Amino acid sequence: MTATTELPSWPEGLTRVPYWVFQREDVYAAEQQKLFRGPHWNYLCLESELTDPGQYRTTFLGDTPVIVSRGRDGELYAFENRCAHRGALIALDTQGTATEFTCVYHAWTYSVEGELTGVAFKDGIKGKGGMPESFCMARHWPRKLRLAVVHGLIFGSFDNDVPDVEDYFGEEILDRIERVLGGRTPVVLGRFTQMLPNNWKLYVENVKDSYHASILHLFFTTFELNKLSMRGGIIVSPDGGHHVSYSAIDREAEQDGSYSEQKIRSDSGYRLADPSLLDGFPECGDDTTLQILSTFPAFVLQQIQNSVAVRQILPRGVASTELNWTLLGFEEDTEEQRRVRLKQANLVGSAGYISMEDGCVGGFVQRGVAGAADQSAVLQMGGATAESSESRVTEASVRGFWQAYLAAMDMRAANGASA
Ligand code: FES
Ligand SMILES: [Fe+2]
Repeated sequence: MTATTELPSWPEGLTRVPYWVFQREDVYAAEQQKLFRGPHWNYLCLESELTDPGQYRTTFLGDTPVIVSRGRDGELYAFENRCAHRGALIALDTQGTATEFTCVYHAWTYSVEGELTGVAFKDGIKGKGGMPESFCMARHWPRKLRLAVVHGLIFGSFDNDVPDVEDYFGEEILDRIERVLGGRTPVVLGRFTQMLPNNWKLYVENVKDSYHASILHLFFTTFELNKLSMRGGIIVSPDGGHHVSYSAIDREAEQDGSYSEQKIRSDSGYRLADPSLLDGFPECGDDTTLQILSTFPAFVLQQIQNSVAVRQILPRGVASTELNWTLLGFEEDTEEQRRVRLKQANLVGSAGYISMEDGCVGGFVQRGVAGAADQSAVLQMGGATAESSESRVTEASVRGFWQAYLAAMDMRAANGASA
């Protein structure tokens, strides 16, 4: 595709983000090709959702509908959810158990491993009609994905040249995934699906933006869950694309006046009528109470107190994003721990005490930048680079996303700094 060569140039380095990148159809199409069908690992579903042969889930990799299944041989498979005949969805349900899939349109059939196994009336009726002799079913299997399982998370890629998943994520990120998921079996406690009125990258920026979290979100600061003055830090992967932001509750941070001095909305007089919402337990054998992790291009693993969840970010057009939350507990949980997790589920999702503002702030940007394709956002908090730091008063991980994005999209900043 040549679309990206016709784009206006990227203004300068990583400290400016041109608003056209959130607005253009050609950028959207190029992203689908280069990020979502290109050599990157995108989250599909959990391994624990596919324990038995024939079990499947339907999901998306970017725009593309996908079926992920447990084959009769016990292996995992994933393939396009698109009939080889005329393109209808093969599976319509979100999840289930199948012995085979039958397309509803003309009843072509597929094995749970993704092979085309039957064509209705292939040989015609009474010697008349039917497919030509030369039609070879084996040449019409839906396109298969490569899969990788990382601590129970299933990632897929359409590109055979995708790097090994260990190299793709790197050790620091893998360790942080392991910290939350390693050695335990996730159980799905519930799901939220939320439509965001903005480009998908505005949500990715929001997730990586540790600067906003304790300012925009009234709840975080008021209830001392996350303040920039608390102990914590940011990890940005060497290529910029993955990040971790973490912090530990630190009651001393309450005493410092850094928030009241700034007159920000999150410094409020609100109190909870039922403070037991925040009673929890040490989550991963340490005192880190918040860990937000994202992997390039569009996946999030969160631990906010005892609310553990994965978020799948799906582009749904230039100014529309589907955000799928899967809330997790673990088989190893006690009943009390399960109760705490369900209670703290109120923190997240579309109406979550913490995350509700994120559901609209991306839309505020999308609406705010209308008519300003020639203007750019400013990303200079904490400097111009994309490195790990102990300060969270930085936009380093957002710059990291753009660094990885420019590289993956074969785009180049005007000052020559590549991406
Ligand atoms: S589109 Fe699937 S059988 Fe015709
Ligand atoms: Fe947020």
